[in-house]
Amino acid sequence: MKLKNMLISGGLLVIAVLLAVAVSQTTKATNVEATLRAPDYEVATALIAKGGCAACHTIPAIEGAVGTLGPGWCEPAEEFQAGEVDLEFIMESIVDPTAKVDEKFNPVMPTNFGDTFSHVELTTLATFIATLNCE
Ligand code: HEC
Repeated sequence: MKLKNMLISGGLLVIAVLLAVAVSQTTKATNVEATLRAPDYEVATALIAKGGCAACHTIPAIEGAVGTLGPGWCEPAEEFQAGEVDLEFIMESIVDPTAKVDEKFNPVMPTNFGDTFSHVELTTLATFIATLNCE
C-alpha cells in the first residue's frame, strides 16, 4: 500500500511539473502575440481616405498626405513607441478629439468618427498610427 501511495504521489508530481511547463510556454506565446503589428496597408489607407485624415494630417507613410491643420502623425507614433500613450489613448483622440485638444491647433477635427468607423476600424486606424516608422 505504501509503495502504491508513493507511486501515485510521484505520478502527480510529474503531472504538476508538466502542467507548469505548459503554462509557462502558453504565457510566452501570449506575450509574442501582444506585440503590435502594423495593419494591412491597403485596409488602413482605405479607412484614412474615407475619413479624409490626410487633408489635415501629415502622414509619413502616405505620399501626398501633407495636411497641416492638425499635428503630423509622427507625434502620436513617437509618443506610443516611447510608452507615453497607449492604443486606447490614440483611439480616443480619433473618436473624441475635443477631449485633449492640442493648444497649437484649432480644434477643427470632426467629432463623428465614432459613428463613421466601427470599433475594429478605429483599432486599425490607431494601430496604423502607433506603428508608423518615423525614424
Ligand atoms: C478637418 C481637419 C482634420 C481631419 C479631417 C482629421 N483630423 Fe485629426 N486632428 C485635427 C486637429 C486640428 C487635431 C489637433 C487638435 C485636436 O486634438 O482636436 C487633430 C488631432 C488628431 C490626433 C491626436 C494627435 C496627437 O498628437 O495626439 C489623432 C490621432 C488624429 N487627429 C487622427 C485623425 C484620424 C485618424 C483622422 C481621419 C479618420 C483625422 N484625424 C482627421 C484635424 C483633423
